[in-house]
Amino acid sequence: MRTPIIAGNWKMNNNIEESIELVEEIKKFQLDRDVEAVICVPFTDIKDVKAAIKDTDIKLGAQNMHWEEKGAFTGEISPLMLKELGVDYVILGHSERRQYFNETDDTVNKKMKSALNHDIKPIICVGESLEERESGKEREVVKSQVIKAFEDIDRKEIENIVIAYEPIWAIGTGKTASADDANDMIGFIRDTIGEIYGKEEKQNIRIQYGGSVKPDTISELMGKEEVDGALVGGASLKSEDFVKLINY
Ligand code: 13P
Repeated sequence: MRTPIIAGNWKMNNNIEESIELVEEIKKFQLDRDVEAVICVPFTDIKDVKAAIKDTDIKLGAQNMHWEEKGAFTGEISPLMLKELGVDYVILGHSERRQYFNETDDTVNKKMKSALNHDIKPIICVGESLEERESGKEREVVKSQVIKAFEDIDRKEIENIVIAYEPIWAIGTGKTASADDANDMIGFIRDTIGEIYGKEEKQNIRIQYGGSVKPDTISELMGKEEVDGALVGGASLKSEDFVKLINY
């Protein structure tokens, strides 16, 4: 059985005060204990958010990291630094990082290896652009991203990895993939993991959908067989909406 995972990606939003306020609001609600809830916050909020979620089951995530432990990499954050702050998850290869900060399949792979070596669970983002979908290349693109991200990743790590299928055209646009389309692509990603590793890994890997997920679309989405969760941007910034997603 795969545990459902709903993760909020706050992106570059919320200073420390706003973060604490949001966490305190979320804490007023009863959260479904069978669903893993994660908040992926800006680096500067990590320490305070960690303290604020201390007595809850909410897990903490970062939104990026460098693969090296230390060195001359101005402006970067290392896995050791994240580990020291008690981070459980790290989002890697988000399309915004691929698009604006030259993240490549190769750097995603290096970061995934490093995260796993430091016991930080990676949430690996893949997804096609509108142009790629319209030219019928979406499967080819996503398969290639998955194969490259998982190069030399040991099968025993599969249970520590989450994949997020986020079609770029659905992110922050209000256009969401239909639950059936999300289910199809996630099934295809699962097959790809099966081709690389085998049957057991195919069954065990957790795969989320991301892209304009909102409270009114979550139950249909989570009702689909292949979908194990959601990676949520905008709706994770509102306590009531985020709680509704966790308690789908
Ligand atoms: P939205 O939910 O705002 O579309 O963002 C999705 C996303 O990019 C999560 O990582």
